[in-house]
Amino acid sequence: MNAVTFLSPITEDIKLVEDRMRAQADEAHPDLRAALEHLLSAGGKRVRPTLGLLVGNMLNAPHEKLVTLGAAVELLHTATLVHDDLIDGSLLRRGTPTLNARWSPPATVLTGDFLFARAAKLAAETDHLPLMKLFSDTLAVIVNGELTQMFTSRGLINRENYYKRIYAKTASLFEMTARAAGMVSPVGEETVESMRDFGYQIGMAFQIVDDVLDFSGDQNAVGKPLGSDLLNGLVTLPGIYYAESNPADADILSLPQGGWTNAENMTRLVENIRASGCAQKAMLEAEQHIDRALTRLESLEPCAERDALENLAKYIVDRKI
Ligand code: IPE
Ligand code: IPE
Ligand code: MG
Ligand code: MG
Repeated sequence: MNAVTFLSPITEDIKLVEDRMRAQADEAHPDLRAALEHLLSAGGKRVRPTLGLLVGNMLNAPHEKLVTLGAAVELLHTATLVHDDLIDGSLLRRGTPTLNARWSPPATVLTGDFLFARAAKLAAETDHLPLMKLFSDTLAVIVNGELTQMFTSRGLINRENYYKRIYAKTASLFEMTARAAGMVSPVGEETVESMRDFGYQIGMAFQIVDDVLDFSGDQNAVGKPLGSDLLNGLVTLPGIYYAESNPADADILSLPQGGWTNAENMTRLVENIRASGCAQKAMLEAEQHIDRALTRLESLEPCAERDALENLAKYIVDRKI
């Protein structure tokens, strides 16, 4: 499964989304314009606007609203990455240096703020009040999730906490995108609900796969530092499976007491988790989410967009980047 199979119905639309994003810094300070250009030219999979465009085109939404929604969502995503990389101290993203690798923390924070402001303006430009409310509620869920992760999740080995965390930081935005595309379409509540759940399920799978790639990915392909979640105190699904089958492992036992700050021990733990087969168990959970997402497509009329959504869902668990 490669990206082409789900991008083909909307390749031109994605270009319009990128142009719309780029235009957001037109009147800004030259350094800010350069920063946005740097962020955009580094690429990114554009999975979220792709989701919104495919759902909306399938359901006959007004085209202009979908491009606006796509730009709003991708700019919000970009802003969260700018802040996330500063918070995590990550120096590489999409194979190029992050803003925080080149700029001071204050300049990085302010650039993120600017992008949030422009994302909010784009959401308003859909002229759809419930969508604007949903957009801002979702941003609040993401930020609240990041703060919860920072204050109460470090070193914590807990499934329920994990699922809540990945919903907040990632699945909520996928869910919002698919739901919003449904809301601006001439369809009933039931279809909007199906699309919301489709977005939720692929979003949960997306973050589980991201967490698996942190253990088993190829850093050159992924384009960001790997093996770093545990070093940041984040115990993700492969680690949770490992802790369940190795409850007496000294490194596991050290985690709730702050053991994640010991880089040498964490490097050993990462190696042990890699060798354990626990990443494969986590992948099975991601695949279950994808199966649930696919059942949501069954009641829809066959069309190119529906096929592409199916391919997008499958790509999420097959991806190497
Ligand atoms: C990275 O998202 C952050 C997560 C939610 C895991 P993506 O993997 O979609 O990042 P880009 O936009 O393709 O770089
Ligand atoms: C980032 O999650 C989610 C948000 C940006 C809110 P991660 O920390 O797992 O993303 P990566 O791995 O840095 O892309
Ligand atoms: Mg990060
Ligand atoms: Mg990650």
